[in-house]
Amino acid sequence: MAVPPEVLDRIKKLREEINYHNYRYYVLDSPVISDEEYDALMHELRELEEKYPETVTPDSPTQRVGAPPSDKFRTVPHHVPMLSLDDAFSPEEIREFDVRVKKFLNIDHDIEYTVEPKMDGLAVELVYEKGLFVLGSTRGDGFNGEDVTNNLRTIPSIPLRLLSRHEPVPDLLEARGEVYMEKDAFRRLNEERQRQGLPTFANPRNAAAGSLRQLDPKVTASRPLNIFCYGIGRVEGRGFKTQWEVLNTLKQWGLRVNPLIKKVTGIEKAIKYHEHLAKIRPELNYEIDGMVIKVNDLELQDRLGTKARSPRWAIAYKFEAAQSVTRIVDIILSVGRTGAVTPVAIMEPVKVGGVTIRRATLHNEDEIRRKDIRIGDWVIVRRAGDVIPEVVKPLKERRTGKEKPFVMPKFCPVCGSPLVKKPGEAIYRCPNPDCFPRLAKKIAHFVSKPAMDIEGLGPKVVEQLITSGIIRDIPDLYYIKKEDLLSLEGFAEKSAQNLLDAIRRSKHVSLPRFLFALGIRHVGEVTAQLLAKHFKRLENIMEASFEELQSIQGIGPEVATSIYEWFKDEKNKELINKLLEAGITVEPMEEESRLPLEGQSFVFTGSLKSMKRADAKRLVISLGGQVQSSVGRNTSFVVVGENPGSKLEKAQKLGVKAIDEQQFLKMVGIENE
Ligand code: IVH
Repeated sequence: MAVPPEVLDRIKKLREEINYHNYRYYVLDSPVISDEEYDALMHELRELEEKYPETVTPDSPTQRVGAPPSDKFRTVPHHVPMLSLDDAFSPEEIREFDVRVKKFLNIDHDIEYTVEPKMDGLAVELVYEKGLFVLGSTRGDGFNGEDVTNNLRTIPSIPLRLLSRHEPVPDLLEARGEVYMEKDAFRRLNEERQRQGLPTFANPRNAAAGSLRQLDPKVTASRPLNIFCYGIGRVEGRGFKTQWEVLNTLKQWGLRVNPLIKKVTGIEKAIKYHEHLAKIRPELNYEIDGMVIKVNDLELQDRLGTKARSPRWAIAYKFEAAQSVTRIVDIILSVGRTGAVTPVAIMEPVKVGGVTIRRATLHNEDEIRRKDIRIGDWVIVRRAGDVIPEVVKPLKERRTGKEKPFVMPKFCPVCGSPLVKKPGEAIYRCPNPDCFPRLAKKIAHFVSKPAMDIEGLGPKVVEQLITSGIIRDIPDLYYIKKEDLLSLEGFAEKSAQNLLDAIRRSKHVSLPRFLFALGIRHVGEVTAQLLAKHFKRLENIMEASFEELQSIQGIGPEVATSIYEWFKDEKNKELINKLLEAGITVEPMEEESRLPLEGQSFVFTGSLKSMKRADAKRLVISLGGQVQSSVGRNTSFVVVGENPGSKLEKAQKLGVKAIDEQQFLKMVGIENE
């Protein structure tokens, strides 16, 4: 079959690109694309080469196992090549692997596998002669590595002599494992480097690689490195039957083996264990990027053999990358409850570790300057500790010249107060003590039960939404995305969906509720009802004259002034427009509404048994009645609860009818026994 020219072209482009990224990664220690993107390129190339085997050349990146050793260190050969692993990302691909293995071996019973966390560090080989550590090297290109013996010697968990207490030591052992840096050690190292003004490492793996490939072992010694061993090269003076036995014997010899290794029978159990590892991954103090599945029986491994760069008896079942690349479209400010004003990057949505993210805190202005992050930049983002999204660094190579440096605004984005910064502090603050509380209160009122009635959006969540920069004003509520909620503490898939549903439901609202929700001074539920009844439609209220407002019974000059001024204010007009743009529909009042309590007014005294006073009032209003706070001649009924006050006496004096709770309930249509 002839290879189509466009395929040849694509293969060429893929190779060029992969070679470039290999160089960035291995030689410069400075990758410009995420692991996920790199994997995707390799995956595509490998698939094309598998389909058109005649296109494979010995110098194709797929034929290389790793990086060429640098000339910084002496080169040492690996007698048994240090192979790489094929990647898989889904249970289907893993099941296909299992089918391939069985087919190759011509067996149809369940296979026994070891399942091991796939450490995200760098592979090394440790050579022990008669129990003594004599040589240590990096993987290099799989055939030759770099001699980093002296650096490896500084890692406390690498025994300089094998233990012989439980197992006799072999004449020769080539142990293989992964050197890594623990997450908290990595964080401390980066903090220290930041303090010293040194560039920080993008992730623990880069930190481990950078630390191990130091010319001065003293530098390596100062870096907290660790190792987990997972395999062997040559061994003399001892035989093994299974990978499980290998792992356990390595442990007996004093080499560190990950305690999360497991032996399973059947591929489904392996898939289950991958789910478990994915779940506990955030709690681990080291980075793992997947799970390695290996055929346990070494004889079967032998029969399966290897392909050019990877064995047929093992596969890496990767997690979705916890690091990705996206573009910053804007940098906005969020205000915290202490007044701290934090820049937040708004990004094109990108999947990181299975979750879509679109915003990440940039901490403060100094941090933005230090990382040289600009609006329009392509950046590496990751979820630190697998929860909080973080911008790792900009990809300066991708700049077009159109990127804009961030300039810290001088005024608070919420209340407009001039921002202040104390000497020696990195954070700007809004000095207005009312700023955050006022905003939080305004939004909490808007979403409350008698207003827009958004269930699940209490004051605490409102605060979380503001401090994370997800909302900065009321209309932002209607643009919240599920992934925004998932990035907050306390939210999971279901609770996030419930809240989004409640927000959506609130978009259709009655006129009185909407008016009340706006938080206009002096406009409580009762006044909102009066306004709605009189004006019928929102537009009419927005255009009402002061005189008309004042003419409404129950609305005095002070209240009328407040309403009139509120609707004349441009900021408020914009708020209403934005809410309508966000899809809110305000139900007009029915022209001919004949509600059962229309024309009747109620005064409550004493406490009710069946409901709260506020609910009773709401009920009266919703049925067209009015609620008054004191008894007057025009009061229709005084509802007398337990322990009534002086209002009852006054009602009797004025001849206003008093009714008890039972009668009231009947009147509003609630039959009580
Ligand atoms: S086995 C032929 N086991 O993953 C088998 N590798 O892409 C080769 N790794 O170079 C490796 N944890 O750096 C194996 N439990 C584990 C591993 C592991 C991490 C790394 C190692 C290797 C790469 C393979």
